[in-house]
Amino acid sequence: MASLQILRLLIATLKGGPGKTTSVILLAIALARRNYNVVVICADTRTRGATDWVQESLRLGYTVPFKLAIWEEKNGPLSAFARTVEQQTGADAVLIDTGGEQPEAFAHGCLYADKLIMPVGPMNGELRRILETYRHAAAINESGSKLDISVLLTRVPQAGKGKAREAREDLSTDLRAADGTPDPDKPYALGLHVLTAEITRAGAYDEMYCIIPDDVGEYEDLCTELVGPGNKPGTEGAA
Ligand SMILES: Nc1ncnc2c1ncn2[C@@H]1O[C@H](COP(=O)(O)OP(=O)(O)OP(=O)(O)O)[C@@H](O)[C@H]1O
Ligand SMILES: [Mg+2]
Repeated sequence: MASLQILRLLIATLKGGPGKTTSVILLAIALARRNYNVVVICADTRTRGATDWVQESLRLGYTVPFKLAIWEEKNGPLSAFARTVEQQTGADAVLIDTGGEQPEAFAHGCLYADKLIMPVGPMNGELRRILETYRHAAAINESGSKLDISVLLTRVPQAGKGKAREAREDLSTDLRAADGTPDPDKPYALGLHVLTAEITRAGAYDEMYCIIPDDVGEYEDLCTELVGPGNKPGTEGAA
């Protein structure tokens, strides 16, 4: 069997509540159902979104198909904690949920992860919030990390159309000056990789909050984009 690459994913933005926790949990469910051994690390020491989601789901009688590890400051740096969790659980997918305004946890998440996904809404005001997150992540890459950075459009009124389409175009165009100064009108025009999957603004996602739904909606498409179609390689026949 070909050796499987571990998916080490940080889903984070330093500002706003664009759907980080929702994205982590629904993607974790999708991966687990494709036979990945998934661990979600709750590194949001303030709102504890992922922890609450799991605990509430268990209380309601749902089976949670992934493991949860709760990081606290007393556990030491998040990057070392994540590595230990990965080894101890034999996970092949580790997803980290961080809170906003937690630059230190964010930086350590970036050091551990191979991939950073920044969820963002397509409205101008929300797009601007990505700048600080990107700056931090890019600085970490400049100091030698090889973090693959992408944007996930969330809460879009209509996938592939209108605001979503405009936001995709703007984010993926690089309008920075030669010295790297962002464009004053569109500071988020940074030549970013925008994931093809888009998450619509829908009450259905709100209803999935704190349960384990049968259907994770467009997060299934995101899962396919990240790991390819079908089950974990080598487990195609498994349940
Ligand atoms: N695509 C969506 N459509 C509609 N509602 C959504 C969507 N995604 C998330 N929500 C809702 O928005 C709220 C915030 O989502 P979530 O907790 O995932 O954001 P967050 O980025 O983790 O926020 P925080 O920074 O507070 O941790 C929740 O009530 C959630 O149900
Ligand atoms: Mg959250």
